[in-house]
Parts: sequence; structure tokens; C-alpha cells
Amino acid sequence: MQISPSILSADFANLQRELEAIRNADWAHVDVMDAHFVPNLTLGLPVVEALLKISPIPLDCHLMIEDADRWAPSYAEAGVQSVTFHIEATRHPVTLARTLRAAGARAGLAIKPGTDFAPYEELLPELDMVLVMTVEPGFGGQTFMADMMPKVTRVREAVRRHGGEIWVQVDGGVSATTIEQCAEAGADVFVAGSAVYGAADAAAAVEELRALARVHACA
Ligand code: DX5
Ligand code: ZN
Repeated sequence: MQISPSILSADFANLQRELEAIRNADWAHVDVMDAHFVPNLTLGLPVVEALLKISPIPLDCHLMIEDADRWAPSYAEAGVQSVTFHIEATRHPVTLARTLRAAGARAGLAIKPGTDFAPYEELLPELDMVLVMTVEPGFGGQTFMADMMPKVTRVREAVRRHGGEIWVQVDGGVSATTIEQCAEAGADVFVAGSAVYGAADAAAAVEELRALARVHACA
């Protein structure tokens, strides 16, 4: 059970301090948005490279960008430990996943709420993680979509069928009140932005989320 706080809800003027505040987390989730794949613009490779130099924990980069085939490999080559691209933004997912892994990164595949996982099950041997979005990607602080839980379970079942250690991540609206159903559905990596950085004590929020996820872990 791993917690990956999203720095999208952090103070962008003090990212070093904000990363230190969550050093008890497993990953720091970095949302890269290009204002094309999603209607929002955040940060790109130069900022990620700077974060890699100072982050006390590994980076979990969630690329919400068009033409991932072209842009995603640079993040792995820069040293990002986990790189997740959207299936809706790639034409060659197998090649891309192999390129990311060859560069030393974990390869993650993200699917938007309207995207089914079934057609992509055959990609599992190429992947280290599947990210099931529980909001429409683009912004922090949105309402959790509980109706994505059956999809999380279907992904978990597919991972079991295929064997191997593939993580199932949820991202969007994950909080102390919604994390239990995610864990029960089969998620094991939990992204939380506003629930962590909106709390008075970010580190304590990470611990609380991890404890809740453990209690409700699916068998
Ligand atoms: C949304 C991003 C999320 C976002 C989550 O497109 O991918 O990572 O930061 O924020 P919360 O936890 O506030 O929904
Ligand atoms: Zn994200």
C-alpha cells in the first residue's frame, strides 16, 4: 500500500519544502499537463529535472500530454523513477513502455474515466502499473468518481490473471473518506493531492491514508 501525494496541490513557489513535507510518502506524484491533452498547463521537463535533484523520495510522473511517444522517453532518461503515459495519447504503447523501461523507469499506463481497460489487457506484460483515473484529468480538488471502482476491480483481476507484480494506482478525489473503497476494489497505489496538501499536517495525512488503505486492502 503506497501513497503518492500530488504536488499539484502544493505551493509551487516552495516545491523543495513541499517535497520535504511528504518525505514519509512512497512517491511524489508530479502532474505534467500540456494544455492540449487536458485543459490545464502545469510544468514540464526542466522543472522535473530540478525536482529530481532535490526530492527526498522518487518521482511518479503522470504525463497528461499529447504525443507521449515523442515526449515521455525524456522523463525516463532524466531519471524519473516512474513514468505514466495515457493510452489515449500514444500510438505505440508497447514501444513506448519498452523505451521507458530500457531507460530505467517503471512504465505506467493511465486510462481516463471514459476509457475501458479490456482492450489493453494484452499490454500488461509491458507494464509496471495501471493508473485508473477517478476524476476527469486536468485539475486537483475534483469529486471522486465512485463508479470507477468496478474498473479498478477489473484491472486488479486482469493483473492477477497475468501474474507478476503490477501496481494498480488510483488518482483523483482520493481522501480519507474515499480511499477505503479504492483499496477494497483492488488499488495499491493512491494519489492524493488536496487531501494531503490541504491538511494542516501533510505527513500526518499521508500516514492516515496509508493506515486506512492497509485496513481495507483487498485479499
Ligand atoms: C488530476 C491529477 C491528479 C490531481 C489529484 O488530473 O492527475 O493527480 O492532482 O488531485 P486531488 O487528489 O485533489 O483530486
Ligand atoms: Zn495525476
